[in-house]
Amino acid sequence: MASISLFFLLLCVPNLSVASSYDPRGHPPSPHRHLLPRGVPPQGFYLPTSNGGAMLTIVPDTYPAGLGEPLNGIITANSDSDVLVDQEINGGLRNYFQAVGFSSECLGQHSGSDQGANLGDGNGVKNETAVIRWDYGDPAFGTCTETIQGGNHFRYWVQNGNQANSGAIFMGLSYELPIALQHDIIPNGYNLARDWFVGNATGGQFVNTSTVSNTSTFSGSVSSQGYTYQTDVQYVSGLLQNTSNGINHYLSVGVDGKNAIDGLVALIQVKITAKPATTTKSSANHSSLPPRLFRHLPPVLALAALLTFPLLCLL
Ligand SMILES: *[C@@H]1O[C@H](CO)[C@@H](O)[C@H](O)[C@H]1NC(C)=O
Ligand SMILES: *[C@@H]1O[C@H](CO)[C@@H](O)[C@H](O)[C@H]1NC(C)=O
Ligand SMILES: *[C@@H]1O[C@H](CO)[C@@H](O)[C@H](O)[C@H]1NC(C)=O
Ligand SMILES: *[C@@H]1O[C@H](CO)[C@@H](O)[C@H](O)[C@H]1NC(C)=O
Ligand SMILES: *[C@@H]1O[C@H](CO)[C@@H](O)[C@H](O)[C@H]1NC(C)=O
Ligand SMILES: *[C@@H]1O[C@H](CO)[C@@H](O)[C@H](O)[C@H]1NC(C)=O
Repeated sequence: MASISLFFLLLCVPNLSVASSYDPRGHPPSPHRHLLPRGVPPQGFYLPTSNGGAMLTIVPDTYPAGLGEPLNGIITANSDSDVLVDQEINGGLRNYFQAVGFSSECLGQHSGSDQGANLGDGNGVKNETAVIRWDYGDPAFGTCTETIQGGNHFRYWVQNGNQANSGAIFMGLSYELPIALQHDIIPNGYNLARDWFVGNATGGQFVNTSTVSNTSTFSGSVSSQGYTYQTDVQYVSGLLQNTSNGINHYLSVGVDGKNAIDGLVALIQVKITAKPATTTKSSANHSSLPPRLFRHLPPVLALAALLTFPLLCLL
């Protein structure tokens, strides 16, 4: 029991250490242009549809059958290669997500159904790499709030098969209702989730979903763990259709005569413009993921444990 209490206390620590800051002593931005991996098209990803893939996910057991969700955000291979590495250390993808306000699932528990996607990279249909949730300002436990109250979240897939190895990250963003309402998607919830991600990633600016078009661009910076990320977004049409046809939850998402999705995809390019002055390995590979123990607990137990944390943090 004593060792379990110790775990809980250690879990309080990330709350104190996540405050992110811009460090003016950090390295200056790299002066040379980022080079795309050999063969990757200039837009920084391969078109999934040109090799048997699709820009809609595959959702199990929809009614009618065969509905999917839009891959409405792409972190392109024009981003810094460090950002495209799926890790929390060294300014990797998970730290970028945290800078935007998103973290891994509640206590490492996977909830919600798996979706498939075929990115046309030769890997065929794969389940999402992970589900990432809005963290309500708390990278350690905020995603538990998201799981219960609903909110913004996304699944992502990496285009890394040997027929189209761009390394780009394809995201299916949607804003879900509370768990009590079966995690349906809110009205206009695909477009809004995309735009709120973009708004947060570019420093908290308002992105007006009623006026975005294939000429919209947004830029801004966010930081986490001493890494500052400059995000440049370009909205494009043509990858998805402006439609309700074939879209999961189309009845509740497309309201007031509007289509469930507007057909726009946010192409997201991320550059690291500042790094911690000294990358101390011992703290750099500190992870805010909960200890492995919790990933094997049944959700109910994990939740009970969660409710106990705030009390322990007060001790
Ligand atoms: C995706 O996950 C489901 C479980 O949610 C599993 O049954 C299925 O085999 C997985 N599909 C692939 C392609 O890995
Ligand atoms: C940031 O994300 C939250 C949660 O999705 C959303 O409520 C908020 O409006 C977003 N902020 C901006 C500026 O888009
Ligand atoms: C968003 O744009 C629409 C259409 O131009 C406008 O009516 C609305 O007031 C805008 N919303 C905000 C919050 O600025
Ligand atoms: C932008 O969208 C308009 C219709 O809304 C379309 O006519 C035009 O071809 C699109 N441009 C590009 C570059 O996709
Ligand atoms: C989508 O189509 C509707 C008409 O069905 C149109 O009003 C709207 O401007 C289109 N949106 C975009 C982003 O092209
Ligand atoms: C951090 O990672 C390095 C190797 O990458 C390892 O030598 C070191 O022990 C790790 N530190 C902690 C605290 O895990």
